[in-house]
Amino acid sequence: MSDILCMYYSRTGNTRKAMEELAAELGAEIVPLTDTVDRGGWKGLIRCGMDAMRQTPEPVSRFETERPLEDYRLVIVGTPVWAGRCCSVVRSFLKEYGGRLNAVSFVVLRSSEGKFEEVYEQMDEYLPRSHKTAVSLRSGSVGYRFWQEEFLRQTRAFLEEQ
Ligand SMILES: Cc1cc2nc3c(=O)[nH]c(=O)nc-3n(C[C@H](O)[C@H](O)[C@H](O)COP(=O)(O)O)c2cc1C
Repeated sequence: MSDILCMYYSRTGNTRKAMEELAAELGAEIVPLTDTVDRGGWKGLIRCGMDAMRQTPEPVSRFETERPLEDYRLVIVGTPVWAGRCCSVVRSFLKEYGGRLNAVSFVVLRSSEGKFEEVYEQMDEYLPRSHKTAVSLRSGSVGYRFWQEEFLRQTRAFLEEQ
């Protein structure tokens, strides 16, 4: 049973792929997050943009983890960027459960050049302590593997310090 947990929301698969790769490297448990909103097609896409701006997004759906959340040494949270923010599903998760997480890392997936590192600060607002490591990835970009490896190196170094 791993004491590292990867949790993510992914609408079109990019965050899922990145998180599956990282979970395999770290031997981590992996759990997808969802809510009950239909986010398919154009209507779903517009809804995502609107939800990203809302102060009170839809609650995250029930999920199961092997251990209680507070028992993980590290929880890695993966989100796509929506309108310059973290996606509403991940925000709902952090709002409800962030206070129970010991140590947190962030993985952000985006489609444009900018890294949107301000999303880390937005997510930190829901945590008792700020994140330990973070990476912003663009699927298919030249730097994707490099930054993913760098994130793994920094995250392993953090875990070794514990
Ligand atoms: C509503 C919405 C808003 C988005 N806003 C941004 C943005 O502000 N900046 C950006 O780089 N990408 C933005 N994207 C693109 C996604 O972050 C990107 O495609 C990401 O890889 C999707 O991850 P996923 O496949 O796990 O859903 C947006 C996508 C959606 C659906």
